[in-house]
Amino acid sequence: MDMFINKITKTISEKFEENGYDSEYGKVNVSNRPDLCQFQCNGALAAAKKYKKAPVAIATEIVESLKSVDIFESLSIAGPGFINITVKDSFLVQYINSMKEDEKCGGSTEEAPKTIVVDYGGANVAKPLHVGHLRSAIIGESIKRTAKFLGHNVIGDVHLGDWGLQMGMVITEVKRRNPELPYFDDNFTGEYPKEAPFTIDALEQIYPHASKLAKSDEAIMEEAKQATLELQNGRRGYVALWKHILNVSVTDLKRNYAALNVDFDLWKGESDAQPYIPDMVKYLKDNNYAYESEGALVVDVSKEDDKFEVPPFLVLKSDGSSLYGTTDLATIIQRTQDFSPNEIIYLADKRQSLHFEQLFRCAKKSNILPENTELDFIGFGTMNGKDGKPFKTREGGVMRLQDLIEIIKSAVREKVVQSDSVSEDQVEETARKIGAAALKYGDLSNQATKDYIFDIERFSSFEGNTGPYILYTVVRIKSILSKCVEISSKEGISITGPYSDAERDLMLQLVKFNEYINVSFKDKAPHKICEYIYDLSNTFSRFYSSTKIVAEEDINKKTSWVALISLVQKVLELGLDLLGIEAPDKM
Ligand code: ARG
Repeated sequence: MDMFINKITKTISEKFEENGYDSEYGKVNVSNRPDLCQFQCNGALAAAKKYKKAPVAIATEIVESLKSVDIFESLSIAGPGFINITVKDSFLVQYINSMKEDEKCGGSTEEAPKTIVVDYGGANVAKPLHVGHLRSAIIGESIKRTAKFLGHNVIGDVHLGDWGLQMGMVITEVKRRNPELPYFDDNFTGEYPKEAPFTIDALEQIYPHASKLAKSDEAIMEEAKQATLELQNGRRGYVALWKHILNVSVTDLKRNYAALNVDFDLWKGESDAQPYIPDMVKYLKDNNYAYESEGALVVDVSKEDDKFEVPPFLVLKSDGSSLYGTTDLATIIQRTQDFSPNEIIYLADKRQSLHFEQLFRCAKKSNILPENTELDFIGFGTMNGKDGKPFKTREGGVMRLQDLIEIIKSAVREKVVQSDSVSEDQVEETARKIGAAALKYGDLSNQATKDYIFDIERFSSFEGNTGPYILYTVVRIKSILSKCVEISSKEGISITGPYSDAERDLMLQLVKFNEYINVSFKDKAPHKICEYIYDLSNTFSRFYSSTKIVAEEDINKKTSWVALISLVQKVLELGLDLLGIEAPDKM
């Protein structure tokens, strides 16, 4: 559907044009003085400069010619030439009713959909998923859902870290513990065991231990590097062992991501880029993009006008092993072959921005990136504890995501247990949904690039700008509707009115839905969706506290209100779904 505000803009633009001015001056904004008018057009002021005429004179001409249009309740000229606009209720209600009939509640569908790869999640195999990966998963999921909602063809890829040094560390540590395993026997020609030689719990112990050892002992570190290189070169036993590490890890990761309602279309990793690396390296060398520097193979990606130093992009280490950037560059080739994307969006900690700058420059300079593919990096800030430092466990260790989810869930559970409306057997499921909402909304309501403070009390509060508050609004509407079952919520909103101010405000808030979704996607800013559903919830609250819906005896009024609030419910649920949040039935 066309955006509500665009419909008004279009009407006014036509009049500018009819009167001999550029149509662009007809742009309409939501009024910042809702006490005076609903919308405003300031174009006469800008037009006045260009056409060397008094702004009020232009505004008067426009208002005069708008008199033939019957969608306006009032048009007036304010100050130096602003046009204050209020639309007719019938025009507003007509739009609301068409939103109701639309399965996307007026959300637009892209006429020229793009193919977009969203690279998010980025968990590292064999390492526990920690809060640092939380933001990538949560923000990426929301961007992916919003793009899909708008009709783009979107592929979400978890891009696991499964090809780096940590793999070599784990392999050498397993070898130290169980040297008798066939994976380390060069003469072994049989079938490797189907069962992994460790559980996820054991694996999670192995990595931190191995990493500590390697960091304190140079020989062990050397061994880990060598093992990594041999794995990358396809040493049979190592590859077999690595597959076990991957399987055990991925099973666990899937469970964790599912708890967050995060769902990837692709479970690829850095390792999947390996087959593309040899040809890529050859190409970079043959075309003189890459050269040797201190034994390593690099591509110069600096630019003359750089304000800060951009070091060369590392293609291969001096021992010939590939790095984080190598697999990222080769993955661009892979994605191009598989999907010919128009855009690749990466989500990672903003401290990785230099890496992505180098990667993007290298991909463009070497023409590895097709000309019509856009690369976009969304660097997010850190989730901090109340002390302003990166969030840690009480012991000062890295907080595991699983534990974090549990912490917030128990904070919510306490409240759910006290609620009369939630039956005992529903407590767990309800607490899970509200807990996930608290966590995700707490994150998403902040601008992604900013650091934020993880505040359990605030995030899990049922009041204020929180996930639980939005869920509570949905649950409240569901409860009201369940008391009005005699009325079909499929009916439209009454076109005759009259409407209370609170009712009209609610409708004016509803019609902004499509606009916010589009802006949120354009700016890759899920917090704008949060902003919208929070405002909608508040506007609904004001309407509800001034309207006795359930007790209303006038059936026409009641039907209209039921229609209106069921649309509010649907829009809130769509908005929540774009954030990857689901509402319980009761809370
Ligand atoms: N695995 C990386 C990390 O934990 C994040 C991956 C981000 N995506 C990418 N294509 N580099 O830091």
